[in-house]
Amino acid sequence: MPEIPSDIWAWFNLKGDAAALIAHFFFGLVVIFLIECDLFACCGRLTCRSLPPENEDMELDDDVVAEIDRVANQDTEYGAGDQEQLLGAEEGKTGGTRPDVIRVDGFRKAYTGLCSSPVLAVEKISFGLDYGECFALLGVNGAGKSTTFKALTNDAAPTAGTVTIAGYNVQEEFGEARKLIGYCPQYDALFHDLTVSEHLWFYAKLKGVPASRRSAMVERSIKELNLKDHRNKLAGTLSGGNKRKLGVAMALLGNPPIILLDEPSAGMDPEARRFMWTVVEKISQRDKKSAVILTTHSMEEAEALSTKMGIMVRGGIMRCMGSTQHVKNKYGVGYEVEIKVAKSVYENLQAFSEMHGFDRNLQGKVKLDHAAAKMREARQVDPLVLDQIVHGGLGADLAVEAHLDENDEVKLYHLMQYLYVQQSGFKFIEALAGIFDQVEILEHCSDFYKFRVPKEDKSIGYLFGLIEDKKQEFNVGEYSVSQTSLEQIFQTFANQSAADKAQFTYKINALGALVC
Ligand SMILES: Nc1ncnc2c1ncn2[C@@H]1O[C@H](COP(=O)(O)OP(=O)(O)OP(=O)(O)O)[C@@H](O)[C@H]1O
Ligand SMILES: [Mg+2]
Repeated sequence: MPEIPSDIWAWFNLKGDAAALIAHFFFGLVVIFLIECDLFACCGRLTCRSLPPENEDMELDDDVVAEIDRVANQDTEYGAGDQEQLLGAEEGKTGGTRPDVIRVDGFRKAYTGLCSSPVLAVEKISFGLDYGECFALLGVNGAGKSTTFKALTNDAAPTAGTVTIAGYNVQEEFGEARKLIGYCPQYDALFHDLTVSEHLWFYAKLKGVPASRRSAMVERSIKELNLKDHRNKLAGTLSGGNKRKLGVAMALLGNPPIILLDEPSAGMDPEARRFMWTVVEKISQRDKKSAVILTTHSMEEAEALSTKMGIMVRGGIMRCMGSTQHVKNKYGVGYEVEIKVAKSVYENLQAFSEMHGFDRNLQGKVKLDHAAAKMREARQVDPLVLDQIVHGGLGADLAVEAHLDENDEVKLYHLMQYLYVQQSGFKFIEALAGIFDQVEILEHCSDFYKFRVPKEDKSIGYLFGLIEDKKQEFNVGEYSVSQTSLEQIFQTFANQSAADKAQFTYKINALGALVC
């Protein structure tokens, strides 16, 4: 047994640890190399779980199909000088026969993992953009917008399809493509211990801005995004909105030719948002120096900035594409009419009660079933109004009140108020249903109604005129008429909002009666 030296630094004592350290070093090196080579991502593909099959039965809109064909049929070969022209954004060169500067062709992404089933995030989408264009990618949560950004920034490899930026395949030649990109990811990628101005200086340096121009550029950026008061604050201590502003400032720094903004305005105050719009609009549309893709949940922002938009739905499917006006014209389903029935004063309601054979004292109670049966017999009230006094109907409040009362009674005042409002509302619906093929009630709460009617050949002025003329007759207190907004179109595609789903649809039948 060799003698163990008492000096802890003796080589005899250290050699075991040294060997372990060296082994760890090489092991770590190999693991990093494998991660960088995306080997672990490939492991997901090696599992026996098969990828979700391509959805062949997708009913794609003709604009989406036209864009798929346009992108697929683009000549991807670059002629002499084409690449220089693509990179010559500062001269504002656009168009021609060369491919788009951003080209996403048949991109499909399914996330795979060793232990989990594959998740299909994006189902084969295609779009192309040139300088001067701003593409707004809209969609419900989880539709695959950020995944598309990840493909554009080589953060996620496409399962199928190709993504090219200025002619460089993002997956294969990202070293070149990355020089052109300014990216603001959805989650703030900031160094918590650097100040706002340090971030901007750092990024100016990274982006290769010459030293002589860095100061002016950083100052302009701070001014444009209104970050003056926060310039010396640590990024970790900034509010959410200011972090977002800093993220956008970093992405726009140096006017990169490709700008990718993933929900840039989330949490920004309206003033900062306007600032950002001005900057983005200037570099993309006025100077035609950049191609911008942005995602947003603000339809106002999409309308203000985009030259082209696409709406993605769950399952990563692109449902529609085109300019804002085109989308509005194509999918705008009609007009929306909001009315508030003028409230009846107590005395009128007393007379109303008497007219229907009830007491003048509205504070008393009546049995709901009996009252409804009595009115049905007297045929003074539209049966549709009475039919709606059920759970889930327009008169659900009364049904609940009766349900909670031990004698199934409701206050006469509540019943008369309901009848008065509904009678007025139904008279109005009847008038609309006589003019339009269909009247949908989108919202109804107390004396407020929101209807949707088809456009047909009627102008918005016609509708205004109609309501203005008849507002006394129908007891309309306040009203508004509007064309379908982008938000409503979005909700139609997303089919998410209960508020926009028609609660009831009314038509006039062949006998001229109102039917539900
Ligand atoms: N790394 C991942 N592994 C597995 N699934 C993922 C991964 N990243 C995203 N997904 C899934 O892919 C789908 C699309 O996600 P993505 O983040 O692209 O949506 P999004 O449109 O950006 O949504 P949001 O509006 O909420 O930001 C979601 O179902 C999500 O759960
Ligand atoms: Mg996202």
